[in-house]
Amino acid sequence: MTIGTIGVCGAGMMGSEIALVFALADHKVRLMDMDQAFVDKAMAKLEKTLDGGIGRGFYAEEDKPRALANITTSTDVSGFGDCDLVIEAITEDEAAKGDLYKKLDAVLKDDAIIASNTSSISISVLSSYFSEKRHSRFLGLHFFSPVSRMKLVEVIRGFDVSDEAVDIATEAVKAIGKVPITVKDVVGFAVNRVLFAMWNEAIRLVEEGACTPEDVDIGCKLGLGHPVGPFELMDNISLDLTLKVSDILQDAYGERFHTRPTVKHLMAAGRVGRRGGRGWHRYDEKGKKVG
Ligand SMILES: NC(=O)c1ccc[n+]([C@@H]2O[C@H](COP(=O)([O-])OP(=O)(O)OC[C@H]3O[C@@H](n4cnc5c(N)ncnc54)[C@H](O)[C@@H]3O)[C@@H](O)[C@H]2O)c1
Repeated sequence: MTIGTIGVCGAGMMGSEIALVFALADHKVRLMDMDQAFVDKAMAKLEKTLDGGIGRGFYAEEDKPRALANITTSTDVSGFGDCDLVIEAITEDEAAKGDLYKKLDAVLKDDAIIASNTSSISISVLSSYFSEKRHSRFLGLHFFSPVSRMKLVEVIRGFDVSDEAVDIATEAVKAIGKVPITVKDVVGFAVNRVLFAMWNEAIRLVEEGACTPEDVDIGCKLGLGHPVGPFELMDNISLDLTLKVSDILQDAYGERFHTRPTVKHLMAAGRVGRRGGRGWHRYDEKGKKVG
């Protein structure tokens, strides 16, 4: 099966850029969100991403009109009947995803491959919202932010997915220049488990008074070659999402992933990270780190 048309549900931070990377690779993409204002905002943001990328030499001038012309937008999934691969990237809420899957179930063609970009919900659980006939064609495709720059995709196998569906999805991801790794449907998948183990240790250093967040960031960048320090990264993705994922890991793995108290204190104090001007660090109104 060749993957041609792609459907993307959710035009937020992840969905809009997932649409972009497939559109740049000459796929026709159907991008939907709940409200026309959200898809319009996403398209305006993609224009800026393309302009920025052209300025930095990532894309050629002609990529912009070509990619944008490949994306059509909607506020429902009624036009998704011709999609070969549908990637769901809506809000991280099982009930919301389940409601959407029932709608997709009714319109998708029988051999469509369906993937969720969920960070933390079990792929096998999500699969159960589809009718039985679709379970072998449902899997996780976990992209990383920003999707236009990050090469990794975790391919997550749920209970009933077929090897054929995994192979087709893996090839589709490779064809757009991403690098897939296959992971079983375990809580946190692979990369977030490694990341949170490191973050918890970084936070312990600060809680013990051994280092400042700034010094741990410098240590990881200059000593380990990380492009961004752990505290900068937590601020970038936001402390509320950090706390949410941390609690999910704690529920699954207990003491190994115990949520650090300082993360809870920062959230309780309204310090959500870069988007709120203050997290582990301080940011100005343009989001530039100032302390
Ligand atoms: N943010 C990250 O770094 C990251 C990384 C990997 C995976 N994810 C996962 O990707 C998914 C999306 O995350 P995000 O950061 O893009 O969120 P976001 O809040 O930026 O975007 C979510 C979008 O989904 C839309 N939406 C909600 N319900 C919908 C529905 N029923 N139909 C259509 N659209 C709907 C919202 O309007 C919003 O535009 C989540 O499952 C998240 O766990 C996020």
